[in-house]
Amino acid sequence: MNRRAVSDTLRTGVCYYPEHWPEARWAEDAAHMKRLGLSLVRIGEFAWSRLESPDGSLHLDWLQRAIDTLHAAGLEVVLGTPTATPPAWLTARHPGMFAIDERGQERGFGSRRHYCFSYAPYHEDCRRIVTALAERFGEHPGIVAWQTDNEYGCHDTVLSYSKAAVAGFRQWCRRRYNGIDGLNAAWGNVFWSMEYTDFDQIGAPVGAVTETSPAHRLAYWRYCSEQVSVFDRIQVDIIRAHSPGRDVLHNFMGNFVEFDHHALSRHLDVATWDNYPLGFLTRDGTDPGLQERYLRTGVPDGSAFHHDLYRGCCDGRFWVMEQQPGPVNWAPYNPAPLDGMVRLWGWEAFAHGAEVTSYFRWRQAPFAQEQMHTGLLLSNGDEDQAAGEVGTLNAEIQALLDQPDIDLLTAPARVAILFDYTGDRLQRIQQPEGQTHDPLEFVQRLHACLRGLDVDVDIVAADASLASYALILVSNATISDPALAVRLKDSDARVVLFPRVGSRTRDAAIPDNLPPGELQRLIDVQVVRSESLPPGERLEADAEIGNGPGGMPMIVQSWRERVRSPIEPRARFADGWGFHYTHGRIHYINAIPIDGSLERLLETLLEDAGIATRMLPVGVRLRRRGNLTFAFNYGPDPHALVPASGCPVDAALLIGERLLPPAGVAVWRTAP
Ligand code: GAL
Repeated sequence: MNRRAVSDTLRTGVCYYPEHWPEARWAEDAAHMKRLGLSLVRIGEFAWSRLESPDGSLHLDWLQRAIDTLHAAGLEVVLGTPTATPPAWLTARHPGMFAIDERGQERGFGSRRHYCFSYAPYHEDCRRIVTALAERFGEHPGIVAWQTDNEYGCHDTVLSYSKAAVAGFRQWCRRRYNGIDGLNAAWGNVFWSMEYTDFDQIGAPVGAVTETSPAHRLAYWRYCSEQVSVFDRIQVDIIRAHSPGRDVLHNFMGNFVEFDHHALSRHLDVATWDNYPLGFLTRDGTDPGLQERYLRTGVPDGSAFHHDLYRGCCDGRFWVMEQQPGPVNWAPYNPAPLDGMVRLWGWEAFAHGAEVTSYFRWRQAPFAQEQMHTGLLLSNGDEDQAAGEVGTLNAEIQALLDQPDIDLLTAPARVAILFDYTGDRLQRIQQPEGQTHDPLEFVQRLHACLRGLDVDVDIVAADASLASYALILVSNATISDPALAVRLKDSDARVVLFPRVGSRTRDAAIPDNLPPGELQRLIDVQVVRSESLPPGERLEADAEIGNGPGGMPMIVQSWRERVRSPIEPRARFADGWGFHYTHGRIHYINAIPIDGSLERLLETLLEDAGIATRMLPVGVRLRRRGNLTFAFNYGPDPHALVPASGCPVDAALLIGERLLPPAGVAVWRTAP
């Protein structure tokens, strides 16, 4: 695998669909891309209907000419495998290949991602087309990387309840459990007489009269998540056999936790992701105030969160494969970005360690589903606004790289957030209906609070090396795991455990020693009661009683636990429940603080860990990479860069001005 040290070049690219345009236009497009300073082009990921006919004949010559044209123009090519879009003739051969949703509806042909990961005959089709592509183009000098498929899980396609999926799940259960009695015991199936006498009686955990067993649901999710990796691995092995030295990557999504991305990334060289800041805000945002304030910029920590998350997937190697260029087509409403944001988003990815930022797409499509989605060019081929901003970005990159002694190596941060996909899933499964505590949102709030205090953050898998961290935050490692307990115990860091960590076994049961299970090796606390609270309900822990952080009351929401412990809590609620237990460098925080309280709590913990903080102005963010500091302004007002906002008086700005306008970017050398 190419897990070499993160490259020190900053490159931009674009997603291009040669099959959408007359061949006579390709050379002109390629020359235009070069003029804008682009280096990479991703092609091919939806082109299956133009690559193969029902009689088995392959049509790869046009793709060869497209790759040759781009290569001749000095562009590097990322070739996508087209398996997200099997053509109509192929699906007609496989009536069982479609995913089935939880209502039993088939998710058929007519858009994309119309396959069930478990349907093995489709794996053979994928093998055939990927082998054909890899054999023909694997050693093409223009090809630098391969993208497998496209956005696994997009359009809600991880969980499928097809016959193939249920059959696969039964086999998976057979392998994993010690006979049917072992499964019954592990899942607690004596409850409601859910005991099976044969693996073939096991179905998908949907369609029952009321809630199905959490162990069943977690197992089914694990199975489906693993199927995504299995599916991907087939392609990766073929590509590696025929295309030595090239990076193999996949493009992940934003705000998306439907399968275990850490597990899949183990066999990739680079984690890439698709960044649509305004689409995410209007589709997923829950705070109307934030939606309004950041309508045209995206929230200040939204992109940063994902950069930090995906940087943690492949030993630091990550790209943005698709970057929003203007209004998109798929969110509930699709505003235009503030002028300058396309440039800012690009710089921000680089500040967080990205090797490449690539824009989706080259030219707006005048036909089919994405006509309302902008590109770098309008549908008639004229430049759209994003082309100008990308041109500026590339000119700035060149000027920066021309400076002497620029170091771009991304060092580990001092603060880590542990991220666990299975734990996130389990919290969602065992969530009271109201979803008042969303585990992903909470991790994002932790991250945003740290970023607002000007702290750089790594987001790492629960099995990542913890050696370099002074502070480790753990909130969605829900499964009680002895290995994690030992690793945290052996680290030198301050460790902060939040509600629900270690609260269930691998099979979604309460640990014998009560939550936080194995994590009690770190601190002597036992959760004896937990409550969830409706939106708007706030509880105050009176800091007077026990020296709460900053001496101010701590306000919590959504989730609270009652803890039994010999440790005197640092504060108490009016009803006597304690808040915040500390044993040496280990903290157990047994409720979910609201933003202001969380900020104060983190400030105290950071100070205790010897990490300097500064409260950044609303909407302003800094990030360090190598010997550079980058500043970004997501806010509506200009911000003067001064020492209090992290910019020394004598810093010579390499990019930008001291008065950072809205959507502004500035870069200077970090003071040694
Ligand atoms: C992504 C997808 C692209 C395109 C884009 C539109 O999710 O990978 O193919 O559909 O969204 O924003």
